[in-house]
Amino acid sequence: MERSLVLVKPDGVQRGLVGEVVARLERRGLRLVAAKFLAVSQELAETHYAIHKGKPFYEGLIAYITSAPVMAMVWEGPNAVAAIRQTMGATRPTEAAPGSLRHDFALEVGRNLTHASDSAENGEKEVALWFKPEELVDWTREVDRWVFEK
Ligand code: RTP
Ligand code: MG
Repeated sequence: MERSLVLVKPDGVQRGLVGEVVARLERRGLRLVAAKFLAVSQELAETHYAIHKGKPFYEGLIAYITSAPVMAMVWEGPNAVAAIRQTMGATRPTEAAPGSLRHDFALEVGRNLTHASDSAENGEKEVALWFKPEELVDWTREVDRWVFEK
C-alpha cells in the first residue's frame, strides 16, 4: 500500500481549507494514517525542501511554508501517490485540471495550497521526516473491501 505525506500549506490553513482537502481525500477513498497541526521550523522546512536549494524560488518557498501553521497528514491507498497528486492538480494552478484542488482554490504557484509526495519512495522518506513511527495509526477501516480491490 503506497503512502504519501500531504500538507495543507499555510495559505490553505489561513483560508480555512483544511476540511476541504481532508474531505476530498476521504471521499476519494484514501485512508488517513496520521495527522498533526504544527508550525514548521526553519530546520524542517530546509530538510523537506532540500532538493530545491539553489533554485530561484527556494527562499520564498521556505518563507511560505514557515509563515503560518500547516496541517500535516499521511494518507495511504493503492496508487496513493498518483491519486493524491491528481486530486491536488498540477503544481501551477493555471495548469491544474478543472475540478482539482489547485484549479478550484488557487491562482499562483507560490500559493498552491498543498504538498504531496511525488513518488512512493519519497513518500516513505517524507513520512519518516515528518512523523515518528508511533504517530502512524494502524487500523482497519470497515469499508476498505468496497474501495480497495485487494
Ligand atoms: P509539492 O512538492 O508542493 O507537492 O508540489 P510539486 O511537487 O507539484 O512541486 P515541486 O516542483 O516539488 O515544488 C515544490 C513547491 O515549490 C513551489 N514552487 N514555486 N516559483 C516557482 O517557479 C515554483 N516552483 C515550485 C510550489 O509551492 C511547489 O508546490
Ligand atoms: Mg514536490
